Amino acid sequence: MARILITSALPYINGIKHLGNLVGSQLPADLYARYMRARGHEVMFICATDEHGTPAELAAAKASEPVTEYCARLHAEQAELARGFGLSFDHYGRSSSARNHALTQHFAARLGAAGLISEVTEQQVFSVADNRFLPDRYIEGTCPACGYERARGDQCENCTKQLDPTDLINPRSAISGSTALEVRETKHLFLRQSALRDTLDEWIDSQTGWPVLTTSIAKKWLHDGDGLQDRGITRDLDWGVPAQFDGAPWAGMDGKVFYVWFDAPIEYIAATAEWADAQGLDDAAWRRWWRTDEGAEDVRYVQFMGKDNVPFHTLSFPATLIGSGEPWKMVDYIKSFNYLNYDGGQFSTSQGRGVFMDQALSILPADYWRWWLLSHAPENSDAEFTWDNFQASVNKDLADVLGNLVSRVTKFCRSKFGEVVPEGGEAGEREAALAQALETRLRAYERHMEAMEIRKAAGELRALWVLGNEYLQEAAPWSVFKTDPDQAAMQIRLALNLIRFYAVLSQPFIPDAAVRIMRALNFDDWSWPDGVATALVVLPAGHAFTVPDVLFAKISDESRADWAARFAGQRG
Ligand code: 2FM
Ligand code: ZN
Repeated sequence: MARILITSALPYINGIKHLGNLVGSQLPADLYARYMRARGHEVMFICATDEHGTPAELAAAKASEPVTEYCARLHAEQAELARGFGLSFDHYGRSSSARNHALTQHFAARLGAAGLISEVTEQQVFSVADNRFLPDRYIEGTCPACGYERARGDQCENCTKQLDPTDLINPRSAISGSTALEVRETKHLFLRQSALRDTLDEWIDSQTGWPVLTTSIAKKWLHDGDGLQDRGITRDLDWGVPAQFDGAPWAGMDGKVFYVWFDAPIEYIAATAEWADAQGLDDAAWRRWWRTDEGAEDVRYVQFMGKDNVPFHTLSFPATLIGSGEPWKMVDYIKSFNYLNYDGGQFSTSQGRGVFMDQALSILPADYWRWWLLSHAPENSDAEFTWDNFQASVNKDLADVLGNLVSRVTKFCRSKFGEVVPEGGEAGEREAALAQALETRLRAYERHMEAMEIRKAAGELRALWVLGNEYLQEAAPWSVFKTDPDQAAMQIRLALNLIRFYAVLSQPFIPDAAVRIMRALNFDDWSWPDGVATALVVLPAGHAFTVPDVLFAKISDESRADWAARFAGQRG
């Protein structure tokens, strides 16, 4: 049994996440966590809301709520939706927790003591009307290159030119629209990542088997241009972890907080401490996952994230951990994702475009979404959600293949033998061939799940279901029954066992349906099959079951058209 630590990138607090966010980290991380638990490993699966930064402050202001209340409310909403989607976190924490405050300030103190923090005086735009410094993206104006009037201070959305706020013509605050902007001096702390460049380079080189996408992004940041830049880790904001060092002030940093990207990944660790607190356990319980001097040397640590998060996880967070000089567990494998697009465009939180987690659950159960999203995960390139494809995939894979098999077998058994597993004769050649075909597919499924090849794993699972359908079609117990009821009984006994076997294998993808199948079978043995032959005789003759309700309802053309129209515009 191995110990596997799994973290999903932390969703920002400011609003309900869309399906593109979900499939970019939390959902595949859940698939992996469920699979690893099913294989008997000890798993710690951690996520949390990423609560600091300007977007959180502004979202709270827009909702006319104090930021602490806004974050508490949105955290509860996101946690509820995570439960709705069956995300099996061991803990869903908050980056604003006391644990994260303490740990972030601890890391800052260690980095400071190691000489890895420097002070930098900068010129920054201050909005008099808003009484705050403005991050570059909150300054708007006319693009000097293309004349677009709503260009942001960091980049023009229209012509993609990278900008400095001072490049903008007629700059104004994106918060209030005020043009009363001044350039003021402010002091910030920088993490001297450049001093850690060689160490990070060596560490990345020592990582075998990382995906090319991950390594190439990291190497690009290490070596392109002037190489790895030092990074500002404080901000002039009210909301965040106060820029203190193990609780002690750093001269000139009063009223400043750590940058959200400094404290967010530390929350992976802090959330594990929150988990221990919630369980009434002591510090040793979480430290054995995170400190290599306290047990974590045996842990395999896997992170899931969108590709835009990769630099922070291959460079910045490792710089924090290594720079601390303490034996923290470093990531072993990073699984990163491309983007999911929505019906010919992008999912967009700011424009409310696409299907959001709450909307998705309001129209269909989680398993329908889980299946489509995972079997179309944007692994090697961007992927696209279309309603046609979603309807086809649900109707074919879930309703016609798996759902139909479960329904036909249980109903046929009830009508001919009653709601008990029938006795029947001996399995023959066809059954042996089926077992062998299943065995090959099962091993391929396991290999893909281990390797986090999600689409391939979904393909194998579907192929396993198809084998069962083909068997039933060829064996045709409904015809055989007329001449040889004993033989038909054997076939149905095997098919009922097959259904249990599918429930076990499918559970990581479609957990609710798997539980419903198992309940109908009146059985609770979820053990992963060692071999197919033995797995297909687990349900004994005479075992009582009930016919389940329809597992997956087909999506009608009418519903599809209705949803496509309903979700075509902006979220209300
Ligand atoms: O990109 C995002 O959605 C960030 N909130 C991810 C943070 S991951 C981590 F490091 F905390
Ligand atoms: Zn432009």
